Amino acid sequence: MIHSILKMGDSRLLRIAEPVTAFNTAELHQLIEDMFETMIRASGAGLAAPQIGVNLRVVIFGFRANPRYPDAPVVPETVLINPVLTPLSEQTEEGWEGCLSVPGLRGLVPRWSALRYEGFDQFGNAICRDVDGFHARVVQHECDHLDGVLYPTRIRDLTQFGFTEVLFPELDPAEDD
Ligand code: NI
Repeated sequence: MIHSILKMGDSRLLRIAEPVTAFNTAELHQLIEDMFETMIRASGAGLAAPQIGVNLRVVIFGFRANPRYPDAPVVPETVLINPVLTPLSEQTEEGWEGCLSVPGLRGLVPRWSALRYEGFDQFGNAICRDVDGFHARVVQHECDHLDGVLYPTRIRDLTQFGFTEVLFPELDPAEDD
Protein backbone atom coordinates (compact mmCIF):
# COMPACT_ATOMS: atom_id res chain seq x y z
CA MET A 1 0.00 0.00 0.00
CA ILE A 2 1.29 3.45 -0.90
CA HIS A 3 1.36 5.78 2.08
CA SER A 4 1.39 9.55 2.13
CA ILE A 5 4.76 10.97 3.12
CA LEU A 6 4.87 13.32 6.10
CA LYS A 7 6.26 16.77 5.39
CA MET A 8 8.60 18.96 7.40
CA GLY A 9 6.65 20.69 10.13
CA ASP A 10 4.95 17.48 11.20
CA SER A 11 6.19 16.73 14.71
CA ARG A 12 6.20 12.99 13.97
CA LEU A 13 9.33 13.61 11.89
CA LEU A 14 11.14 14.90 14.98
CA ARG A 15 10.82 11.81 17.18
CA ILE A 16 13.51 9.34 18.16
CA ALA A 17 12.35 6.08 16.57
CA GLU A 18 12.12 2.83 18.53
CA PRO A 19 14.27 -0.24 17.79
CA VAL A 20 12.65 -3.20 16.06
CA THR A 21 12.49 -6.15 18.46
CA ALA A 22 10.83 -8.86 16.32
CA PHE A 23 12.09 -9.87 12.87
CA ASN A 24 10.55 -11.92 10.06
CA THR A 25 7.01 -11.03 11.14
CA ALA A 26 4.05 -10.37 8.87
CA GLU A 27 3.85 -6.80 10.18
CA LEU A 28 7.49 -6.06 9.40
CA HIS A 29 7.28 -7.58 5.92
CA GLN A 30 4.17 -5.50 5.21
CA LEU A 31 5.93 -2.35 6.40
CA ILE A 32 8.92 -3.02 4.11
CA GLU A 33 6.66 -3.72 1.14
CA ASP A 34 4.69 -0.54 1.76
CA MET A 35 7.89 1.49 2.13
CA PHE A 36 9.28 0.26 -1.20
CA GLU A 37 5.98 0.96 -2.98
CA THR A 38 5.86 4.44 -1.47
CA MET A 39 9.51 5.21 -2.26
CA ILE A 40 9.29 4.00 -5.84
CA ARG A 41 6.09 5.94 -6.51
CA ALA A 42 7.85 9.10 -5.27
CA SER A 43 11.07 8.38 -7.24
CA GLY A 44 12.93 8.52 -3.93
CA ALA A 45 16.47 7.31 -3.30
CA GLY A 46 15.54 6.16 0.18
CA LEU A 47 12.81 6.26 2.79
CA ALA A 48 12.70 5.98 6.56
CA ALA A 49 9.73 4.49 8.42
CA PRO A 50 9.08 7.72 10.38
CA GLN A 51 8.38 9.45 7.06
CA ILE A 52 5.19 7.40 6.77
CA GLY A 53 4.40 7.87 10.45
CA VAL A 54 5.82 4.55 11.69
CA ASN A 55 8.14 5.24 14.61
CA LEU A 56 10.55 2.35 14.08
CA ARG A 57 14.27 2.22 13.26
CA VAL A 58 13.75 0.97 9.70
CA VAL A 59 15.16 2.53 6.54
CA ILE A 60 15.26 1.42 2.93
CA PHE A 61 17.32 2.81 0.08
CA GLY A 62 18.79 1.91 -3.26
CA PHE A 63 18.22 2.40 -6.95
CA ARG A 64 19.71 1.69 -10.33
CA ALA A 65 18.98 4.95 -12.12
CA ASN A 66 17.13 7.70 -10.33
CA PRO A 67 15.72 10.65 -12.29
CA ARG A 68 15.93 12.81 -9.17
CA TYR A 69 19.70 12.13 -8.98
CA PRO A 70 20.78 11.53 -12.58
CA ASP A 71 24.51 11.60 -11.78
CA ALA A 72 24.33 9.30 -8.77
CA PRO A 73 25.98 5.87 -8.94
CA VAL A 74 24.01 2.66 -8.44
CA VAL A 75 23.24 1.87 -4.82
CA PRO A 76 22.05 -1.68 -4.02
CA GLU A 77 18.47 -2.08 -2.85
CA THR A 78 18.82 -2.38 0.92
CA VAL A 79 16.64 -2.83 3.99
CA LEU A 80 18.48 -1.64 7.10
CA ILE A 81 16.97 -2.05 10.56
CA ASN A 82 18.37 -0.82 13.88
CA PRO A 83 21.35 0.70 12.06
CA VAL A 84 24.65 1.68 13.64
CA LEU A 85 26.92 3.99 11.61
CA THR A 86 30.65 4.32 12.24
CA PRO A 87 32.73 6.82 10.23
CA LEU A 88 35.88 5.25 8.75
CA SER A 89 37.86 8.49 8.84
CA GLU A 90 37.56 12.11 9.93
CA GLN A 91 36.99 13.16 6.34
CA THR A 92 33.73 14.86 5.41
CA GLU A 93 32.41 16.12 2.09
CA GLU A 94 29.59 18.40 0.96
CA GLY A 95 26.94 17.17 -1.45
CA TRP A 96 23.45 18.09 -2.62
CA GLU A 97 20.51 16.42 -0.92
CA GLY A 98 16.79 16.48 -1.24
CA CYS A 99 14.15 14.76 0.85
CA LEU A 100 10.67 13.48 0.11
CA SER A 101 9.59 15.20 3.35
CA VAL A 102 10.99 18.53 2.12
CA PRO A 103 9.56 18.56 -1.40
CA GLY A 104 10.91 20.81 -4.11
CA LEU A 105 14.10 21.84 -2.31
CA ARG A 106 17.78 20.90 -2.32
CA GLY A 107 20.61 21.83 0.01
CA LEU A 108 24.35 21.33 0.30
CA VAL A 109 24.98 19.08 3.29
CA PRO A 110 28.23 17.91 4.92
CA ARG A 111 28.48 14.16 5.59
CA TRP A 112 31.13 11.61 6.50
CA SER A 113 32.91 10.58 3.30
CA ALA A 114 33.21 6.91 4.25
CA LEU A 115 31.52 4.82 6.90
CA ARG A 116 30.61 1.35 8.03
CA TYR A 117 26.95 0.56 8.50
CA GLU A 118 25.70 -2.36 10.50
CA GLY A 119 22.22 -3.57 11.24
CA PHE A 120 19.74 -6.22 10.17
CA ASP A 121 17.46 -6.95 7.26
CA GLN A 122 13.77 -7.78 7.71
CA PHE A 123 14.58 -11.47 8.25
CA GLY A 124 17.04 -10.70 11.05
CA ASN A 125 20.16 -11.35 8.96
CA ALA A 126 23.10 -9.18 9.98
CA ILE A 127 24.33 -6.55 7.51
CA CYS A 128 27.78 -4.96 7.60
CA ARG A 129 29.07 -2.79 4.73
CA ASP A 130 31.85 -0.26 4.25
CA VAL A 131 30.75 2.42 1.77
CA ASP A 132 31.65 5.87 0.56
CA GLY A 133 30.40 8.61 -1.73
CA PHE A 134 26.70 8.85 -2.53
CA HIS A 135 25.96 5.47 -0.96
CA ALA A 136 27.39 6.72 2.34
CA ARG A 137 25.46 9.98 1.98
CA VAL A 138 22.12 8.23 1.43
CA VAL A 139 22.62 6.03 4.50
CA GLN A 140 23.44 9.01 6.69
CA HIS A 141 20.45 10.95 5.39
CA GLU A 142 18.03 8.07 6.00
CA CYS A 143 19.41 7.19 9.43
CA ASP A 144 19.11 10.85 10.48
CA HIS A 145 15.34 10.43 10.06
CA LEU A 146 15.43 7.82 12.85
CA ASP A 147 16.77 10.48 15.21
CA GLY A 148 14.33 13.17 14.13
CA VAL A 149 16.90 15.05 12.04
CA LEU A 150 15.96 16.58 8.67
CA TYR A 151 18.79 17.63 6.36
CA PRO A 152 18.06 21.40 6.36
CA THR A 153 19.24 21.54 9.97
CA ARG A 154 22.67 20.27 8.83
CA ILE A 155 23.21 22.86 6.10
CA ARG A 156 26.13 25.10 7.07
CA ASP A 157 25.63 27.82 4.47
CA LEU A 158 21.97 28.60 3.91
CA THR A 159 22.79 30.37 0.64
CA GLN A 160 23.29 26.77 -0.59
CA PHE A 161 19.64 25.86 -0.02
CA GLY A 162 16.91 26.47 -2.54
CA PHE A 163 14.32 25.24 -4.97
CA THR A 164 15.36 22.33 -7.16
CA GLU A 165 13.82 23.94 -10.27
CA VAL A 166 16.04 27.00 -9.76
CA LEU A 167 19.23 25.26 -8.66
CA PHE A 168 19.00 22.42 -11.20
CA PRO A 169 16.77 23.59 -14.07
CA GLU A 170 18.02 20.70 -16.19
CA LEU A 171 16.18 18.16 -13.99
CA ASP A 172 12.76 17.14 -15.22
CA PRO A 173 10.31 18.88 -12.88
CA ALA A 174 7.83 16.04 -13.33
CA GLU A 175 10.34 13.79 -11.61
CA ASP A 176 11.04 16.12 -8.74
CA ASP A 177 9.64 15.39 -5.31
NI1 NI B 1 14.73 12.33 3.75
